[in-house]
Amino acid sequence: MTDYATLSAEPGYAAWLGRERLTDSARLALKATWGQALHVAEDDPHIETAAAELADGLTKLMGERPARIRASDGAPCIVLGTFGGSAKAAAAFHAAERAAVGDEGYRVRVREDGGRITIAGATGRGVLYGVFRLLRMIGTGAALAGADLCENPANELRMINQWDNADGSVERGYAGRSIFYRDGEIVRDLSRIRDYARLLASVGVNAIAINNVNVHRPETLFMTERCLPRIARIADVFGAYGIRLFLSVNYAAPIEIGGLSAADPLDPEVRAWWRAKTEEIYRSMPDFGGYLVKADSEFRPGPFTYGRDHADGANMLAEALQPFGGLVIWRCFVYNCKQDWRDRKTDRARAAFDHFTPLDGRFRDNVVLQVKNGPMDFQVREPVSPLFGAMAHTNLAIEFQATQEYTGQQRHLCYLVPQWKEALDFDTRARGAGSTVKRVVDRSLFGTRHGGFAAVSNIGDDANWTGHLLAQANLYGFGRLAWDPELSAEGIAEEWTRLTFGADDLVVRTVRAMLLDSWSIYESYTAPLGVGWMVKPNHHYGPDVDGYEYSMWGTYHFADRDGIGVDRTAATGTGYARQYREPNASQYESLERTPDELLLFFHHVPYTYRLKSGKTVIQHIYDSRFEGAERAEALLDSWTRLERRVDDGRYAQVKARLEEQAVHAKEWRDVLNAYFWRKSGIPDTRGRVIY
Ligand code: GCU
Repeated sequence: MTDYATLSAEPGYAAWLGRERLTDSARLALKATWGQALHVAEDDPHIETAAAELADGLTKLMGERPARIRASDGAPCIVLGTFGGSAKAAAAFHAAERAAVGDEGYRVRVREDGGRITIAGATGRGVLYGVFRLLRMIGTGAALAGADLCENPANELRMINQWDNADGSVERGYAGRSIFYRDGEIVRDLSRIRDYARLLASVGVNAIAINNVNVHRPETLFMTERCLPRIARIADVFGAYGIRLFLSVNYAAPIEIGGLSAADPLDPEVRAWWRAKTEEIYRSMPDFGGYLVKADSEFRPGPFTYGRDHADGANMLAEALQPFGGLVIWRCFVYNCKQDWRDRKTDRARAAFDHFTPLDGRFRDNVVLQVKNGPMDFQVREPVSPLFGAMAHTNLAIEFQATQEYTGQQRHLCYLVPQWKEALDFDTRARGAGSTVKRVVDRSLFGTRHGGFAAVSNIGDDANWTGHLLAQANLYGFGRLAWDPELSAEGIAEEWTRLTFGADDLVVRTVRAMLLDSWSIYESYTAPLGVGWMVKPNHHYGPDVDGYEYSMWGTYHFADRDGIGVDRTAATGTGYARQYREPNASQYESLERTPDELLLFFHHVPYTYRLKSGKTVIQHIYDSRFEGAERAEALLDSWTRLERRVDDGRYAQVKARLEEQAVHAKEWRDVLNAYFWRKSGIPDTRGRVIY
């Protein structure tokens, strides 16, 4: 084990909080504005965190540590405080200005004539976010003079899901082992977890589930007397940064650790067990967030065993959590792994909708359904889950996968923010035009009680957190988008690049462009026209056209000698297209009107079918594999132009990953082209399909 001092000095460890020292002129200008004193006049744990973060951040940026003062004589300073706890913070704003700030919001005001910056909020958490905002402004070189901001998060829940197991492994983790657990034990030194909390809070994350959704016995034990004190220490670390801790729970816990013979949600004994257990948890963690649950999914236990449904199951837990203000986050990732696909009617894409829409309105107020962005499973390209437009009486959160299970496993570059933006901007039409997914989960569309964003984390104990250094942009981008879904993918990429690598214009332009191109590049050599899944069994790293473990009989592409794609129309296929509201349903039903990138997700067509681009399907598959592999190589070329502009350590890390990507992209190209070409039986002409 590397010791903390060595680890924290490793390239990439500081991530976007590295805070490069400012130029002399920038430092002088800044010094004139606030005089290097922090005015803090109240005792509140989050204000304490905020003041420490600001002092540390400014020390790095300025090269000098600011003084901490409790009273001021009008001399320049930065005032930090809540409206209720700091007279100075309150006095800086009119009543209406204060009233516009919500629970986690903040105001940052830089007085026109210089001499004072005020960061204020209704709560200490708001002030903490305001501090990170100010540091971000300074770090990206934004103009401070006259700045006057009032910002509140768009989403209530901005949550990270760790898929970490007690043995230290991380399910779908591509950046080393867990930072939370080692060899069945919770780690004792919490320094790294604290640094993780800082990273998360700096982008506005306010909740975390610290163990895998697939909960086995060792993690079920986290709810026992032996483990709770150690879990509570982790909760304290996150709590100081305004992040509430959740546990993923095993639905069969009453049997596994409670000694009961069943886990039937309607059994009074089972209900009493959960109530008592929940009370015990809140005794050790008064700010505990609640339970994250994967039930009756991929062989995990759940209410079906007892003839009950998801609402019965979730409501039992909700009842236990309700007195403490806790939430049940119940996942909708439910499908039948063992179905026989040869009938070509059953469809995994339909499963979540079919299971959950009949239950709309039956979930208690403190249940949130967590829905993956697409109907399948975090593929490179999927349509948006139709559930978002179909559950007007249920709290919904959207789940993204920052960890790149099907998007290159952090060996390939794939900046996912553009993909997430597309999902959020999708118009469900549930309440007419403008009923976007982002408005469902921010609660404004249906007026639901809870909602928000969750992402499966992409970090591990690799020194640079994410393995591929540039994959840090996905974690950063998730937090920023959860706070404000109106931010652009371009803006987030630029912000992350400036904070991570500094102001060198060539570096900023190059990295930003690499990030923004990367999803399309990855799609272009891996997943043509909405066909995904062409990965090796279990570990899911490609290419292997029929490798995926549930991919019997070409299930996911249905390629045969006559055509390719899955017919999901109502007229002749699985009927999935009908799960959307109009006009989306008709659009997907129509071969002509389905966008090319989703064509084979919705339709089975001959290889010679002509796309909107004018190319045939087979020609498109062929050409785009070549283009994709070439563009992957070009990513490497772009990066090599930054040699000596980026420090050697980080330069080398990224270069090694891009080299590997360039090689693998060619493998994808060749494997897919050979496969579909053979299937189609179309002769090739001089190495290229011309048809
Ligand atoms: C995917 C992934 C699993 C994970 C599951 C889930 O299927 O491969 O490892 O458990 O998603 O989201 O629950």
